[in-house]
Amino acid sequence: MTVDEFVELVARVSGPSWRPNPEQHACLVGDPAVPLQIAAGPGCGKTLTLVLRALRHVMVDRVLPERIMMTTFTRKAAKEIRTRLIEWGTPLLEEVLAGRAGTLDAAYRAFLRQVDINRFVTGTLDSLCEEALSGARGPDERPPVVVESFAANQLLARRGEIYDTSQRLGQPFLDYLGPYTHTGDPPETLGDMTRVIRTLVDRLVQDEVDLADYVGPGPHQVARQAIAEIFERYTAYLRATHQMDFPTLERVFLDRLRAGRVPDLMSSLRVLLVDEYQDTNPLQEHIYLELARQTGAALTVVGDDDQSLYRFRGATIELFRDFRSRAATALGGQTPQLLYLTQNYRSTPEVVSFFNDFIQNDPDFAPARIQPPQADDPGEPALGQGAGARDVPEHCGRTRGRSGCLAASGVPARRAPCRCSVGGADPGRLQWGRFGGCRDPGAHGERVPARI
Ligand SMILES: Nc1ncnc2c1ncn2[C@@H]1O[C@H](COP(=O)(O)OP(=O)(O)OP(=O)(O)O)[C@@H](O)[C@H]1O
Ligand SMILES: [Mg+2]
Repeated sequence: MTVDEFVELVARVSGPSWRPNPEQHACLVGDPAVPLQIAAGPGCGKTLTLVLRALRHVMVDRVLPERIMMTTFTRKAAKEIRTRLIEWGTPLLEEVLAGRAGTLDAAYRAFLRQVDINRFVTGTLDSLCEEALSGARGPDERPPVVVESFAANQLLARRGEIYDTSQRLGQPFLDYLGPYTHTGDPPETLGDMTRVIRTLVDRLVQDEVDLADYVGPGPHQVARQAIAEIFERYTAYLRATHQMDFPTLERVFLDRLRAGRVPDLMSSLRVLLVDEYQDTNPLQEHIYLELARQTGAALTVVGDDDQSLYRFRGATIELFRDFRSRAATALGGQTPQLLYLTQNYRSTPEVVSFFNDFIQNDPDFAPARIQPPQADDPGEPALGQGAGARDVPEHCGRTRGRSGCLAASGVPARRAPCRCSVGGADPGRLQWGRFGGCRDPGAHGERVPARI
């Protein structure tokens, strides 16, 4: 089956209400040999596109589901991914096997007969690391006993001796912790102190921080020395009792990978897809890239750098934004392709408009803005830049006037004959432009979104 036949099949199976839009289409057909980064706002079909890309790897590239790993940030989201893989994969497979999606040669039919949609490898990275380590122990290694967050915090407080430390060092210690609380005030209870110190010790592991550098001379050195000691007491206790918290689990897993010990669960990996990539911490990224490098798996990551809800857990926005250059280095030079999804399917135009206005307050946002879905889109839309609305109709063979300006009206008009949205009151101001049905996208420049 060709990739175009696959996209057609998806559109047919999903019924008249759903069809991949051109941006989603580009994500589905992208060459698996080139790593792919998809940047998109909320509700733009990121997860669905990733699920369909996983299914494309099965139907088009003939990769068995058990060789495809798809991860995300929370267990709940991982369950949803599994459900979507099954909900979409089952009818697609049935259609192909029934011969309703083109002719089936014997080899392809034999391959499809082996496909079991339930066998995709899905989960959070932590859950998969835990599973992989349990099944891949050396003769002198015990199975990991992973301590859940609540219990891990109890151990951190008790074994790390946080209360005693705070009594000994007094206010300067609390002042050091202050900037890391939600309010910016020094923590008042043992629980508050433990939560802040949890963030710090997790970052020491996830950012692969050198402890001596962290303590090194500078402001708050006594407090930082105390944090390092809490960390050492806590991790020594975990080691002695053969327990691991999640950052330690990731650390151990990465060390084994780097030593060339790819666990059985992942040794025949051909495809690796990561949702919610903006919430990935540096240690997890090293795991993904090392896995992709060692197994040669086709890599796709999807995320939204405006939506990193879990920055405080160790994710940093730069991690997603500068992904391509790091991946190119780690994977031996192949720079990932960057594609955007910008049509929002979940929210009303008013919500979309508010979101876009609000997020512009952040100077670091990546240029993935969202738009409401484009109703009855007549042709291949192109994204481009324009400096003034007046010159658009001349470029668009099918247009009868401009429909609205994203900046002026808040949202592009949806049912106007032309959905050109360029320029604004200030013609020198570049912004998102969308040219519905434009015959000559080239006239508007490249398909590159512009920042306001
Ligand atoms: N081309 C499309 N046509 C119609 N509906 C679509 C299309 N693409 C996605 N949707 C719908 O949009 C909704 C959001 O999709 P999805 O959950 O994949 O988005 P998301 O970007 O992952 O969202 P989030 O930001 O919450 O993670 C779903 O109901 C999905 O079916
Ligand atoms: Mg999603």
